[in-house]
Amino acid sequence: MKKLSIISLLLCLCLTVTLVLSACSNSETASTSESDSTEAATVDSAKTDGIDYMALVNKTHPLPENWEDQLETVHMTNSVGDDVEVEKKAYDAYLELKTALEAEDIHVDLDSARRSVADQQRIMDEFTEEYGADYAAKTVAQPGYSEHHTGLALDLYLIIDGKDVVENEDMIVYTDIWAKIHEKLADYGFILRYLDGEEHITGYGYEPWHIRYIDDVDTAKEITSKGITFEEYLGAYTGGDVTVDYGTSEIYTEDELKDAVIQIKCKFAFWGDVDLKSIRYAGDEAVTDENLKWMNELAPDAGYTQVAEFLMGFHTPAEIGELTFNPDADYTNYQWWLARTSDGGWEVVSFGY
Ligand code: DAL
Ligand code: ZN
Repeated sequence: MKKLSIISLLLCLCLTVTLVLSACSNSETASTSESDSTEAATVDSAKTDGIDYMALVNKTHPLPENWEDQLETVHMTNSVGDDVEVEKKAYDAYLELKTALEAEDIHVDLDSARRSVADQQRIMDEFTEEYGADYAAKTVAQPGYSEHHTGLALDLYLIIDGKDVVENEDMIVYTDIWAKIHEKLADYGFILRYLDGEEHITGYGYEPWHIRYIDDVDTAKEITSKGITFEEYLGAYTGGDVTVDYGTSEIYTEDELKDAVIQIKCKFAFWGDVDLKSIRYAGDEAVTDENLKWMNELAPDAGYTQVAEFLMGFHTPAEIGELTFNPDADYTNYQWWLARTSDGGWEVVSFGY
């Protein structure tokens, strides 16, 4: 995420940008500690008027100012002994959800809910140290831009046959259990925040454990039944009506090209009100050793194995802000260069004219 903010900044400065960008997909790692406990919630502080339960916090929307002045939280201790802080109404709703799940013999607990900016920075630092900056940037929201700051985002973990299943890679395999949990969320005013296959909109990969309280059962039901992201519901995603032409390739399957286009859309999400019109695969002619060499020169440690070029059409808004594009103008054939890493993932390496 650090890299992404650098890119946003650079976009303000120049039309042609050449940088290695981090991938959009993401997953979240839960923390564990040992010890038994029972849940005991304590009210942290009593505050007034209240927060906006529909507030959008994502890679392009930071935590609203003065949020904490209105935030009322409770603390609870989870089954592994960790203290978890949650917005008060979200916690009440969670307890109702938990009870309803228990009636179906599904057992969950809270791994993480509210995080301060300092908490998020600590997680970012830990991930950077353990997995390297690239992985950390792909996995943890930039401090200030995590929905967890709101206290309304809850990471669940599963308790299966009495055992805590806390690590993401262990939890994610329980697809049937998650499906049953997801079915119930809206009844208690929650939505699933990071939907499968929508990382180009949400900015994060599928996280079955990350739920968001919005304090409105009807709205939660509407969002859930439509199968849309919170960004789409709030009209904060503008990349919907895009023509994508995968052309014909002897090298890449359509699915491979689709994965590449998701990465482009992830980056495009930072272009504010610029209206994305079309994305076209530029053809196999661009898949040359020379271009691969160029990508690897731009990112000497990346070890790219393949390249692809796409051409984009977009229209800029009348109020262009700090972007150096012309206002209210059509742009065509804007180039996006992507490279593939040895694990098959695509990264946007360069874009511009
Ligand atoms: N992984 C989630 C999105 C966060 O760090 O907030
Ligand atoms: Zn989360």
